Amino acid sequence: MFSHSVPFGSFHNPVQIFFRPGALSELPGALQAGEVPLIVTDPGIVKAGILDRVCRVLDDAGFQYAVFAKVESDPCVETVEAATAFYREKGCGPVIGLGGGSSMDAAKGIAVAASTGKPLQSFRQSPIPSPGIPLVAIPTTAGTGSEVTGVMVISDPKEKVKMVLRGPGLFPKIGILDATLLEGIPPRVAASTGSDAFVHAIEAFLSCKATAVTDALALEALRLLASNIRQVVADGWNLEFLHGMLMGSCMAGLAFSNAGLGLVHALAHPVGAFYHVPHGISCGMFLKPVLRFNLPVCAEKLSQLALPLGLDSGRENPVSVSKRIIENLAELFDEIGIPQNLRELGIADYQVNDAMLDDAMGAVPRSLNVRKSSREELRALFEAVR
Ligand SMILES: [Fe+2]
Repeated sequence: MFSHSVPFGSFHNPVQIFFRPGALSELPGALQAGEVPLIVTDPGIVKAGILDRVCRVLDDAGFQYAVFAKVESDPCVETVEAATAFYREKGCGPVIGLGGGSSMDAAKGIAVAASTGKPLQSFRQSPIPSPGIPLVAIPTTAGTGSEVTGVMVISDPKEKVKMVLRGPGLFPKIGILDATLLEGIPPRVAASTGSDAFVHAIEAFLSCKATAVTDALALEALRLLASNIRQVVADGWNLEFLHGMLMGSCMAGLAFSNAGLGLVHALAHPVGAFYHVPHGISCGMFLKPVLRFNLPVCAEKLSQLALPLGLDSGRENPVSVSKRIIENLAELFDEIGIPQNLRELGIADYQVNDAMLDDAMGAVPRSLNVRKSSREELRALFEAVR
């Protein structure tokens, strides 16, 4: 009676999103009178004058606030702990994550640590409950989609691991997508964060947990990303293209927050933890080898990416269309400056160790990947980016 091509499932997302240039003006309306929010951001956002713009909106609306502007890229547990102490000392209420994935994830970590009083490591095996502290996410890059996901990535340098923590408590209450905050984004940042968004859309689409709802989001996300990324890398000031990228990364976030991800993420996190490769770049490097690995079991579905990528698939068979898609994506990533391997990044001492393999073997995205993988197959994929 039911076609197998329309899987059953569920879809959940509680985040209210505002998406238009100028949407920053919605921020005061997201707060209650008398609340003192903590703005969590990084030094680059301060230098770029973006923090000042947010402060001005709050000043004009008569809000007091505190600022923690020391988030590093790949924020670690110590940073979240220091920020949580500062949050308590200042008697703050809501937490505003302002920046890329690092700042938004650090903001999530602070809300969880402040409300539960527990170390973040204690949530590695269990979903994070609602913290009762409202979160507002304001992305300044188009990449992680963290403004709409119930996921955060916090590094534990002692264990050399990027902890991927999940739970209903990690969804922001409000996401503000204001492309004017991305104006002047450097080409390298646009490329590496955009590459992460591409991979989110593709992995959500190919995931074992994909549904008709997440597929629709992933395909439109990919169309938006593919039709805007070259322009944004070439000219970081065009609002129309920036808005397209921001919507693409957000929709990819909506898709993967429900469908999950795949092997690219299972492999990229350990490489990031051990070799400090920016997340979007390690994702970009693994995309081609992982898609080649997946191709034998998913050509039919993979070939559906031709349309959003602007490729004419004609009457070609799904395997040959999929091969062209993989090459097309590799060319696009090459064009925007994503390195193909770690050597190009200057990492000459790359060794695939047991801890990296253990991490990838136990990663949730590995279990959702369309093709099952053995430890030896993971080792070969790790080697593919040497
Ligand atoms: Fe990612």
